[in-house]
Order: sequence, then C-alpha cells, then structure tokens
Amino acid sequence: MSAQKATAIACANIAFIKYWGQRDAELNLPANSSLSMNLDRLTTVTTVEFSPDYDDDLVILDGREVHHEAKQRIVAHLDRVRAMAGLQDKAKVVSENSFPVGAGLASSSSGFAALSLAASRAAGLELSERELSILARFGSGSACRSIPGGFSEWMAGTCSEDSFAKQIAPPEHWDLRDVIAIVSRVHKRVGSTEGHALAPTSHLYPARVASVADRLAEAKAALLKKDLTTLGPLIEEDAVSMHAVMMTSRPPIYYWLPSSMRLIHEVRSWRAGGLEVYFTFDAGPNAHLICQAADQAEVERRLEDMEEVLEVIVSGPGPGARVMEL
Ligand code: PMV
Repeated sequence: MSAQKATAIACANIAFIKYWGQRDAELNLPANSSLSMNLDRLTTVTTVEFSPDYDDDLVILDGREVHHEAKQRIVAHLDRVRAMAGLQDKAKVVSENSFPVGAGLASSSSGFAALSLAASRAAGLELSERELSILARFGSGSACRSIPGGFSEWMAGTCSEDSFAKQIAPPEHWDLRDVIAIVSRVHKRVGSTEGHALAPTSHLYPARVASVADRLAEAKAALLKKDLTTLGPLIEEDAVSMHAVMMTSRPPIYYWLPSSMRLIHEVRSWRAGGLEVYFTFDAGPNAHLICQAADQAEVERRLEDMEEVLEVIVSGPGPGARVMEL
C-alpha cells in the first residue's frame, strides 16, 4: 500500500463538570458524565503518515522524539486504528501544541482528539463523530469531549458504544472566556491515569459520584440559558469536589499550590466587588477563570498585577476536531 498521510487539528477543553475516576479502566469508562467547553487558543496539530517503508513507529512531539511510556501510549492508540483498518504499516506521528504541555492544561484532550482524527483518516477510515469520540476516549477520557465543537457532554453511558461526547451547544452559542492563570510550568508529578485509579480510595468519592448527575443537569440548563450566575457556582463546586477527592485519596494528591489558593480568594473577593468571574482547576495548579467576554480584559488586568501569575492565556469557545488540507 502507498504511504497515506493526514493532518488534523483539535482544541483542548475545560470541564465545567469534571471526570475523575473510572468504572472501567480498560475501556476508559468514566464514573460519571461530564460537561466541557473547547478552548480555541489551546490546540494540537497532528500529522500521521502510515508507510510500508517504516520499520517502527516514530513519534515527534513539539520537535522532540518521544520514547518510553509517552510513546507507548501513542503506539497503543495507533494499534487501535490499525486494528480497525486492517493495516500493518508503521507510522510517523508529528504533533505540535500551541501551549505548554504538562502544566494542567489538558494537552492529552487535544492530543488524542487530533491523533484519533489524523490516524483514522491516514488509515483510510471515515469515522462518524460518535465513532471518533469513542476512539479518542480510549486514548484519554477527556479527549472524547474535544471531538465535537463548542460545548459538549460526555455521557457516561452503559458500555463502550454509548460512552461518547456530543455537542450540547455550538461555539457561537455563548462567548464565554477561559482566562487561564499559569502559576507553574512544572510537569505534574501525578498524572491523571494514576489519579483516576486512586479516586476510589477517597472516602469522599462515593458522595462526589452520587452528586454529579444533579449538578450536571443544573449546569447544562444554565449553560443553555447563558446564565453565568447559576452556572458559575456549580463550576466551582464541582472543581472543589474533585480536588477534595484528590486530597483525600490514599496516598493524597495535592495539585494546588499556595498561588492556586490565593487565586481562589482573589476571585471570590473580585466577585464580591461586582466582577463576575468563577474559578476551576484541572489536575494541576493553574486556575481557569471563567467569565463573559465583556469582563475578560478586567480579569486579565487584575491577573497581570499578581506576581504569582507567570502567564495568562485567554480562550473562547473552540470548534470541533477537523482535518486540515495542507
Ligand atoms: O483525560 P484524562 O484521563 O487526562 O482526565 C482528565 C481529568 C481532568 O482534566 C482533571 C478533568 C476533566 O474532566 O477534564
């Protein structure tokens, strides 16, 4: 077979209602459904080329060849695509992120979404959005939410075939902003794969899982009504609930730094003073501050005054994963 090549781009996403803990680690089936927004400024562009001339898979991430576990995870994903397409060829994968990797900015979500689309197209497969979301889920759970555009819900489902993300509103629905305050660029010590496995060791985990469905339903309704005053507190409550599970796991995981806590207090006092902004955090110390477009500049200005904040990255709602014609 002649060499087949495809390039895809995908956005990272920020979860308003989080995924933390799995009911099936093999299939990456989550303990609960989750809700997110794609981030237009945090993207991964990935090119996959299968060729009978390659002796081994080669993975280049942000200009550097990747080895060991990081490579293994990508090769395992290529193997899934090869099995679906009945293909034996090895591949060359070249991937570039528009943002720092491993700083709690969910590079795995955009990374596995772009890889799923590029690899499946390069292998000659035309997968539906649902099939792509399921494929991306195997690479990294949150990646399934980066396949559709705008605002998505990943339904926990009952089995692999019905655990995928679907769009609940397009990017134009609501010009929300995620103003990300980078307080540390240190690569996280406990990755999410390990974290998901530890979640059930927290005594708070059953309470969290039991409370998500109601919170998600309320958050989804508020999102559809563009009601930030209702949505914001739910976003904060869910992030704190996830971090409480993390901090009470055995062993505990502390992703927050003193600067993360300071940001929480600042956001609360800004809000008390009339600036409507809410915080959330993924598996890292960097705060994602959610506000309406009209308040973005003021949030940015206040963050720039804080010496703990190394960099600010602003995103609006982003599109779904798509093939790039080069
Ligand atoms: O996709 P994973 O396995 O890296 O898990 C992501 C988990 C969080 O980012 C912390 C929450 C979420 O729902 O995105």
